[in-house]
Amino acid sequence: MSEAKRVGVLTGGGDAPGLNPAIKGLVYRASEFGIEVSGVYDGWRGLLDPAPEPPALDRERVRRWDRDGGTNLGSSRTNPFKSLTPDGERIDRSEEVAANVRRLGLDAVVAMGGEDTLGVAARLSEKGVRVVGVPKTIDKDLAGTDYTLGFDTALRNVTEVIERSRTPAGSHGWVQVIEVMGRHAGHLALWSGVAGQADLILIPEHPFRYEKVFRHLRERMGDPDAAVARDPERPRYSVIVVAEGAYAEDGELVTVDDRHDAFGHARLGGIGEVLARRVMAETPFDARSAALGHPQRGGPPSAIDRVMGMMFGARAAEAVAAGEFGMMVSARGIAPACELSLVEITTVLGKLNTVDVERHYDTERYHMKGIGM
Ligand code: F6P
Repeated sequence: MSEAKRVGVLTGGGDAPGLNPAIKGLVYRASEFGIEVSGVYDGWRGLLDPAPEPPALDRERVRRWDRDGGTNLGSSRTNPFKSLTPDGERIDRSEEVAANVRRLGLDAVVAMGGEDTLGVAARLSEKGVRVVGVPKTIDKDLAGTDYTLGFDTALRNVTEVIERSRTPAGSHGWVQVIEVMGRHAGHLALWSGVAGQADLILIPEHPFRYEKVFRHLRERMGDPDAAVARDPERPRYSVIVVAEGAYAEDGELVTVDDRHDAFGHARLGGIGEVLARRVMAETPFDARSAALGHPQRGGPPSAIDRVMGMMFGARAAEAVAAGEFGMMVSARGIAPACELSLVEITTVLGKLNTVDVERHYDTERYHMKGIGM
């Protein structure tokens, strides 16, 4: 058993539904071990510049948090190993984080986040900070776990939009392109595309060919003049889901601008519009694009994210109580058929969990393998 009496909890990176349930699960289970939980605001930024008195999170305070989306602790993409100075220089301030953890009387830190936030936790762990990680990201791209908080809610949100995009597209007879988040992983695009029954799904793991996309559209929609004749047997529209990180064989990643964050990531976005324009220029079909953006991760957590969140948080409390530091909570399967364990937090460093193209992606049909689309 560990001697931990007080643990800090922070949430870093993009907000995701499931974080607040995870904080609740942590607080509730920790209280059974007599461990107090302090909230750290705004991810790692909150340990570089801590609030004078971090808020005590007790059972009463977090009782209703399971229903809340986002994160009630706030978040940031702060990287203490590459902190930005007013002169625009990046410097290593990780020692300050370690010192603040001691000064605040925190015996350990539970970090809830994705590749970047947990990557920082892994490196701090090597410096002697006692950490436990909880996996979170709508991208579901973290190594070492089958589930990351936020994925199921984002899947629900995106699927709803795909479904709703069908009526305008069908009424006007156009190609609707839906651009979905996920960074360099196509899980969210692929699963939402299948659930919403998109006709084509383009993912980062397999660069696509424009010619092939256009051929599929022609096969599905036929001659636009026939479409005007309203042949009831023939779909007049098509829905294409494109992951923000997808790119053409002869193209490149499309980004919002040239800037990079403290972890070296560019903001992806724009491939949907590029694709829609090319459809209009190179086929007889009209097209529209919608980039779903941040609302994909918005709204209350789904049932799965509530359950997985509370389970993850409770498992993190158990790890702290048992003195199992430098570890991340990991799921095999999804609730209720789910086994939780701990894996080394360094597992998240350097590799991503992306779509297994060989197993799950039909590179001819640009769809999920094995479901006949
Ligand atoms: O990692 C989660 C995510 O939503 C990605 O899917 C997306 O590329 C990125 O965050 C967007 O970053 P930001 O929230 O900083 O705009």
